[in-house]
Amino acid sequence: MGTNCLVLGIESSCDETGVALVEVQGAGVPVLLDHALHSQIEMHQAYGGVVPELASRDHIRRVLPLARDVLLRAQRSLDAVDVIAYTRGPGLAGALLVGAGFACALGAALGKPVLGVHHLEGHLLSPFLSADPPEFAFIALLVSGGHTQLMRVDGVGQYQMLGETIDDAAGEAFDKSAKLMGLGYPGGPALARMAQQGNPRAYALPRPLLHSADLDFSFAGLKTAVLVQAQKLVFQHTGVHSTAGALASGGTDAFACLPASVRCDLAASTQAAIVDVLVHKSLAALRQSGLKRLVVAGGVGANRALRSQLDGACGQRGIRVHYPELELCTDNGAMIAMAAAMRLQAGVQQAHTHYAFDVKPRWPLDQLARATASV
Ligand code: KG4
Ligand code: ZN
Repeated sequence: MGTNCLVLGIESSCDETGVALVEVQGAGVPVLLDHALHSQIEMHQAYGGVVPELASRDHIRRVLPLARDVLLRAQRSLDAVDVIAYTRGPGLAGALLVGAGFACALGAALGKPVLGVHHLEGHLLSPFLSADPPEFAFIALLVSGGHTQLMRVDGVGQYQMLGETIDDAAGEAFDKSAKLMGLGYPGGPALARMAQQGNPRAYALPRPLLHSADLDFSFAGLKTAVLVQAQKLVFQHTGVHSTAGALASGGTDAFACLPASVRCDLAASTQAAIVDVLVHKSLAALRQSGLKRLVVAGGVGANRALRSQLDGACGQRGIRVHYPELELCTDNGAMIAMAAAMRLQAGVQQAHTHYAFDVKPRWPLDQLARATASV
């Protein structure tokens, strides 16, 4: 790879189509020139969750216009692109195939090499897109809709899994609790907004695995506890016995009949339970590793309560916390272009011209770490 290299990145693993241009300039942190994003959230909202087939079709519609926009705004021609990166996994197979197919077709047409990126590595390295990028080594707390992991990161491609969720992810705990509160999909941000008006100590909800010796998480029980608490509250305030099934599917307006203060208190108590566990386990990972730097990435990293508790606890202990820019916490193309640029720059992966692509809907990040030099 030459000292300067222009990377076009494509993200299409779930319900966001993202395209970005990142430039490697010598040995410095690669620079984001521009990025564009189309979120499908509105389209999926009617169904209460992501419909994979609709997601794939929408990626097909969006990816080319987004790529045109990015090139236009960055004032770069397609010919100037050196490498085309795409999310190879994990994610929805059909959605991944759109990005991979687009990237490889473009690569083949232009005679330019392509590179498949691990979506979670994109999240992990997304704080390098911020004005104040971290330095290696650090502990990473990766909290997205599908993953909750603590990792030790010693460099690009050097990831050691320290702990992860044994069932639901933190984002899932937010989303499933929000659904029974009638907050739609994805409910995390809406639940967080409601929580701002509530008392986080109003209801005692479990903090699963808080004091376990390992660094694993478990959130499935919390969701059930929130459901039981919601049933109790609905009965207390309305005398109505709502079934667990109806509440869990968001298919009842019983919860909406509760006074706003009660609903906000339950939202705040739910958020507090999730945040407490994330903060406690992150501090344990930092303590055990002796590292003084924490990177938080993934959609739940946008949560303000999580940020302020981590900032407070880490500040007292002389630990620096790095976050991606708020708009780059959730899925985007910039993190995919950035991860590719950093892998190329560090020499841990080469772009290639075997355009017969495959995608990896299931792809543990520590497998990537082991097979780091392969295609
Ligand atoms: O990283 P991401 O965009 O997608 C995945 O790769 O999964 O994360 C999406 C998740 C969803 O569960 C969403 O509810 C959650 O991040 N999320 C939040 C907030 N913003 C996004 N959860 C809590 N508070 C937020 N402010
Ligand atoms: Zn993601």
